[in-house]
Amino acid sequence: MTHTPVAIIGAGPAGLTLAHLLHHNYGIESVVFESRSRQEVEETVRAGVLEQGTMRLMRETGVGDRMDREADIDDAIELAIDGERTRIDLAGLTGHHMAVYPQHEYLKDFIARRLADGQPILFNTTVDDVTGYDDDQVTITYTGEDGGQLQLTADYVMAGDGSASPNRKLITELPGAVRSKHEYPFAWFGILVNAPKTQKELIYANSPDGFALISTRSDTVQRYYLQCNPEDSVDMWSDERIWEELHKRVSTDDLRVAEGEIFDKAVLRFRSAVTDPMQRGRLFLAGDAAHTVPPTGAKGLNLAVADVSVLAPGLARAIKKNNTDLLDQYSALAVPRVWKAQHFSYWMSSMLHTVPEDPYFQTQRSRAELRSVLATEAGRKYLAEQYVGIDLPTFEV
Ligand code: DHB
Repeated sequence: MTHTPVAIIGAGPAGLTLAHLLHHNYGIESVVFESRSRQEVEETVRAGVLEQGTMRLMRETGVGDRMDREADIDDAIELAIDGERTRIDLAGLTGHHMAVYPQHEYLKDFIARRLADGQPILFNTTVDDVTGYDDDQVTITYTGEDGGQLQLTADYVMAGDGSASPNRKLITELPGAVRSKHEYPFAWFGILVNAPKTQKELIYANSPDGFALISTRSDTVQRYYLQCNPEDSVDMWSDERIWEELHKRVSTDDLRVAEGEIFDKAVLRFRSAVTDPMQRGRLFLAGDAAHTVPPTGAKGLNLAVADVSVLAPGLARAIKKNNTDLLDQYSALAVPRVWKAQHFSYWMSSMLHTVPEDPYFQTQRSRAELRSVLATEAGRKYLAEQYVGIDLPTFEV
């Protein structure tokens, strides 16, 4: 193997979805490079919400069966202020559902499908260098599983290698390129617990003690998040402190957060970042390599899927029809959606969390904003539409 139409760096949501769309929709081959092992990719704990468009893409391209069988497909979420819960009827307000389906399960389905299709994923393989993207052909220099260095040429390359992507600088070093960033004064403490469900629907809770989120993984495993200080370490949160804080923030007389054995603890940083443009010649960025959103609302995976929903038909038109018009529009088409997701994630985060430096003013203001949104059908509908996600773009090839 010395040449491929599309080289894909990273077997995350962006890379695996692009590889699948190219193969399934257009019969275009690609090679996926992944520095981690298959096991690590399939076991890394990430967020868990699929937008309606992502669910639809999975179903329409033949990778939705397990999701339909095993995901928690809900027609509502709840938002709480001081324990007073308001139901957001996603299905009634938008006609769509949401699925709680962890990212690693999504990745497992795409890996299994790709291998069943006989298409390559090179695990434990590090890309050392990418050249030629400004010219007629890309060259990828990589070190394989056995330690030997090899080269592969490609017509195009997509870097979907995450927020620490070493390839992003090839674009951000361009004159006029923008890398816009925002930091938040809070983080999440995430836990996995062996416990039954607290209730069927997710609860996003705003409380004076800080935000908490009750999510799920299955009937017997639950996923909870607590607002914490970004400087906190895992050992600062004993099980006792976690339960005390969860009950203070979420439990009420008629609803008690289900307790159980905690088997995973992690601190999740909040960051926003946007790269514009997302293209340089034959090199494209997608997913976290291009942009990061804070976790509230779980837009990260869905945004990667939206990026490659533009990139896949763009590449197909270029490769099969020798027409790069859609590919050349990639940044112009993808970046506005990135900013919308950025806004939604920022908005949900700021409306639901307490701000440590200015507890009184900011807390009262953001709670008033949340109350205003929940008080009218227009407000609930806006939130619901953004939460289930706007339709993915579609293009003829
Ligand atoms: C989950 C994560 C989120 O950020 C969110 O908004 C909802 C659910 C989760 O991991 O289950």
